[in-house]
Amino acid sequence: MEVTRIGVVGLGAMGAGIAQVAVEAGFAVVGREVTDELGETAAARIGHFLTRKVEKGQRTQDERDAAVARLETTTDLAALADCDLVIEAIVEELDPKRALFAALERTCRADAVLATNTSALSVTEIAAATSSPGRIVGMHFFNPAPLMPLVEVVRAELSSDDAVETAVAVVAQFGKVAVPCHDTPGFVVNRVLIPLLNDCVRVLDEARVTPEALDAAMTNGAGWPMGPCTLVDLVGIDVHVHASEALYEKLREPRMAPPPRLVAMRNAGLLGRKSGRGFYAY
Ligand code: 3HC
Repeated sequence: MEVTRIGVVGLGAMGAGIAQVAVEAGFAVVGREVTDELGETAAARIGHFLTRKVEKGQRTQDERDAAVARLETTTDLAALADCDLVIEAIVEELDPKRALFAALERTCRADAVLATNTSALSVTEIAAATSSPGRIVGMHFFNPAPLMPLVEVVRAELSSDDAVETAVAVVAQFGKVAVPCHDTPGFVVNRVLIPLLNDCVRVLDEARVTPEALDAAMTNGAGWPMGPCTLVDLVGIDVHVHASEALYEKLREPRMAPPPRLVAMRNAGLLGRKSGRGFYAY
């Protein structure tokens, strides 16, 4: 199906990043948040990053302004009624996602493709909350969405070929790399990355090294673009702990379980960059 209008539900760090990618690629975007203030914050964030591109000579002012003008924010789910594709990026919990997809099914056109950006929940379980699971797929972006090229396109048990092909085509129009995969816990990257990051956190205590030293080890010794502590702070310690718990629940491998040190940080509100403090202060 040809996509010209994209809805994004939830304009936090991931949703705003996805909306930015879509407007930059020329799509009309309707971004939905629960309050006007959150919508305005997301629009300002997107405007800021696009202004930086103008300042660095990567875009003209006209291109920036045209991209910003393609974004409309709303608090009303009904504003998504004309979208060809809706990408959900709300809180990473099953029940709210299932409720949202049931509402989207009532709101959106019958031929619209509905995608979830879930990182570790089952797309099939989300789709099962609707009576049209064929049009539901996963589109898993990586943080920060405007900078990371990969999008996993996740085929749930009942996803139609058309829905998967539409998502893959849109990823190409975004200028990103699509890796289609099946709906298994953690899909491809998080199945590997989550236990790896958990190992990194355990090594902090086992080898008695500081976060700075561990990050220096992995950037200089393994060629990582950023160290594991910096990366977990970027992803969000709450998000990472939640993804670890979801994988552990499904796969029962000890390495998937979140290290107690990370759970304690999450419980104390040390969530990384977004809270101003995680392994590092921001
Ligand atoms: N959104 C939009 N634009 C952004 C941004 C964001 N969140 N963050 C930075 N930018 C823009 C800025 O304008 C910045 O330029 P400026 O500083 O001059 O204003 C520009 O992008 C370049 O930023 P950086 O200089 O920080 O870019 P780097 O070249 O250093 O690369 C990186 C940054 C791409 C993040 C690189 O460090 C990297 O690849 N890190 C690894 C990230 C990673 O592994 N992500 C996956 C996490 S796992 C995940 O997401 C799965 C989930 O399910 C948990």
